[in-house]
Amino acid sequence: MKFAKPILNADNARAEYIKSDNGDSFHNSLLGFSHYSPSYVLTNEDIRWVSGLTQNKGPRVLTVAASGDHPMFYAMRGATNIDTFDISFCAKVAMDIKTAAIQKLSRDEYVQLLNDMHQAQRISDVKSIAELMPDIPQNSAYFIQQMGAYPIFSNGLNPSYYKETIPTDAEYAKMRENIRAPFKFIWSDIKSLHTNLTDEYDVINLSNIFEYMTPQQIHQTLAALRNHVRPGGAIIAQTGNWGINRNARAYCDAAKKFKRWARVGYCKKEKDNANSEMIAVVQRTR
Ligand SMILES: C[S@@+](CC[C@H](N)C(=O)[O-])C[C@H]1O[C@@H](n2cnc3c(N)ncnc32)[C@H](O)[C@@H]1O
Repeated sequence: MKFAKPILNADNARAEYIKSDNGDSFHNSLLGFSHYSPSYVLTNEDIRWVSGLTQNKGPRVLTVAASGDHPMFYAMRGATNIDTFDISFCAKVAMDIKTAAIQKLSRDEYVQLLNDMHQAQRISDVKSIAELMPDIPQNSAYFIQQMGAYPIFSNGLNPSYYKETIPTDAEYAKMRENIRAPFKFIWSDIKSLHTNLTDEYDVINLSNIFEYMTPQQIHQTLAALRNHVRPGGAIIAQTGNWGINRNARAYCDAAKKFKRWARVGYCKKEKDNANSEMIAVVQRTR
């Protein structure tokens, strides 16, 4: 099947947003995720725990870009070849701002930046982004300029709800040491991600994307990604209990269908806690 590659187009991005009721701000009118849906600025997952689990698998990681926290925590853990993907270009922009910020801002200024990015009705109102512009890759800088009047980082809840996921002082220092350049970004729907890949990874983290996909789409996607994870490597198919419970059948079926090449299992953060955080893992066996 042929998949069209998105091309950055500010008119198309603006067309996804409509005026809010008060008439002086905008919001993204497409429910769900799209090529320009606003990005999160802080993860709502325990990526600190998840990135630690596969720390010894190797340095090559492919992960959803999302808020940028996924690649940043993998970098903090020592991964050196990190590629990212996302359906929304805004995720790349948020990630580029954060990787530039980590070199220039103190941790307190960085936390303030995340709050400002999330709350700004107009992204041009966030002063520290202007300071960071020279360090931001050209396509992201262009997009920020073109979308100055729009709230392109307003997805999810306010960062103050997820204070515990903000990097600690020590984590922030380690990220600063390890993140010296923007992460490579693949602008793609997960369903066609495999058509954009040439490399093999030790870990692929698909985060919370399968929640809204059918079991058949989940199967096809996991099978298509098989050749891009090394034998012994892991695809983190899903994080968080809600999506796992909802898709448990898809993963159980996968365990049967994939048994020639993969082991499918779940990993709980707290073994004895029925409500513990969980991840679904597909490990390539050959
Ligand atoms: C599923 S959301 C949830 C938020 C996430 N838990 C976090 O930590 O930020 C994560 C990211 O997946 C992206 N996404 C959603 N559906 C996608 C798809 N079909 N293909 C690729 N990326 C997708 C969104 O744009 C978003 O950045």
